[in-house]
Amino acid sequence: MANRDKSIELLNKGVAKEIETVLQYLYFQFHFEDKGYTHLAKLFKNVAIKEMMHIDMLSDRILFLKGDVIMRPASDIVYLDKVDGKPDLKIEKVLKIAAQMENMTVDLYNDFAKQCGEAGDATSKRLFERLVEVEEEHEDTFDIECDNYEKFGETYLALQTIQRDGGNDESGHEDIGMG
Ligand SMILES: [Fe+2]
Ligand SMILES: [Fe+2]
Repeated sequence: MANRDKSIELLNKGVAKEIETVLQYLYFQFHFEDKGYTHLAKLFKNVAIKEMMHIDMLSDRILFLKGDVIMRPASDIVYLDKVDGKPDLKIEKVLKIAAQMENMTVDLYNDFAKQCGEAGDATSKRLFERLVEVEEEHEDTFDIECDNYEKFGETYLALQTIQRDGGNDESGHEDIGMG
């Protein structure tokens, strides 16, 4: 392959972005759970699991190219603002941050796919293209949640939580871990 090192560098940038996203979504999940917003807590957990799978896919490719995986987030996560010293969970703001993160990842991976193609690495190019599709779906999901929240507010979320409680979550994932 023409430029193995270039691909390894881009794949590791992808790993860094995914690690950042996993940490961010888990942080939001903890806060949604704490406030009893089960629907959104499950949504963020499920997307975080998908992002972890992306780390796995990118890592497989890095090791195939004889590189090593760098386990470091691309940047620090965004923390909730504090009001009277306590974290203040603003649902709309959190959903917008998540949609924005996905949107930035889409741009990043489109660019990485292009660069891998130019470096003569068709497999890494395809991997980034497949990830773009998934990240676009995530962006769409967060956008829809945000629209619904803007339209229906807390009532919508309360209803979602009641309706979905006790069954599998909205993505068809089995619940894993401690409930
Ligand atoms: Fe991802
Ligand atoms: Fe994503």
